[in-house]
Amino acid sequence: MDNAPTTAISTPATSATPATSATSSTSATPSVANAQAAPTAGLLAGKVVFITGAGRGIGAAAARLFAREGARVLLAARTEAQLQAVTEEIRAVGGTAHYVLCDLADPASVQAAVDRTVDLYGRLDAAFNNAATSVPPGPMDQALEADFDHAYTVNLKGQWLAMTAEVAAIRATAGTGAIVNNSSIGSLRGNPELPVYGALKRALNSLTESAAVTYGPEGIRVNAIAPGATLTEMIRTWEENTPGVLDRLTAQTPLRRIADPAEVAEAAAWLLSDRSSYVTGTVLRVDGGTRA
Ligand SMILES: NC(=O)c1ccc[n+]([C@@H]2O[C@H](COP(=O)([O-])OP(=O)(O)OC[C@H]3O[C@@H](n4cnc5c(N)ncnc54)[C@H](OP(=O)(O)O)[C@@H]3O)[C@@H](O)[C@H]2O)c1
Repeated sequence: MDNAPTTAISTPATSATPATSATSSTSATPSVANAQAAPTAGLLAGKVVFITGAGRGIGAAAARLFAREGARVLLAARTEAQLQAVTEEIRAVGGTAHYVLCDLADPASVQAAVDRTVDLYGRLDAAFNNAATSVPPGPMDQALEADFDHAYTVNLKGQWLAMTAEVAAIRATAGTGAIVNNSSIGSLRGNPELPVYGALKRALNSLTESAAVTYGPEGIRVNAIAPGATLTEMIRTWEENTPGVLDRLTAQTPLRRIADPAEVAEAAAWLLSDRSSYVTGTVLRVDGGTRA
């Protein structure tokens, strides 16, 4: 699932919605469950949000939700067909979305993707650094060095590159803003089944906290979310490698179910919104109580 990098920057040839408009008059009762037109006064109204890993899973759910909450969004990942599909879905219900091809393993492509947000929309207010690569499960003595290096490059260095580019863009345009990094509850204690993944996510928590302290004085908030098991391709791949893992994770979850990606996206939306204006440097569990 992780072997098709491309660094070209692209946006669709046709734009159903002008970049300056995120509104529609057809949404009487916006709902998270149903795709509705973007409201005029949503949680993220007026904000421009950059989202990595937005072609599927949690990132795609976030792109749909943020647009529905009034944000103009730029979706980034490597698989164009997926980005295009989600972008068109958002536009079809009145939202404002574009996409850009971006490989977190390629520093130039990360910078270009963030720059593209400002080129398209004239500003950057917020970013959801959601993309990550999975690592084959197994004890740490069986981890392959190449897998470790790739996961480090994408899941930690890529997040650092994205954050630094985003801070610069927020500073230069909106002035203040918010960033959310997607960590994992797998970062919060020993993770014998996914040791490399867990270690890199814990390092991401540290980068999140350091960024919050560094950029807090200028009004840029930086938080992380730590999802529990969420029904996406990433966890389906884990289930394929380790049959029964989904049932086991469900049994370990007090709410007795795996999260829907949209439920995780809700937490990111709140942390990116002004409604969390006094929250920075936190790692918010969104885990159905698993680590309670
Ligand atoms: N699902 C869970 O149970 C769970 C639990 C805790 C935390 N998380 C975290 O949630 C986030 C989203 O995961 P998900 O479950 O939604 O996984 P997913 O369905 O596999 O989606 C991952 C996204 O990241 C993108 N991506 C992967 N490698 C990339 C790269 N090198 N450059 C740019 N984009 C890249 C993928 O797109 P391309 O392949 O097209 O690039 C895809 O859009 C991840 O940070 C993950 O660690 C997930």
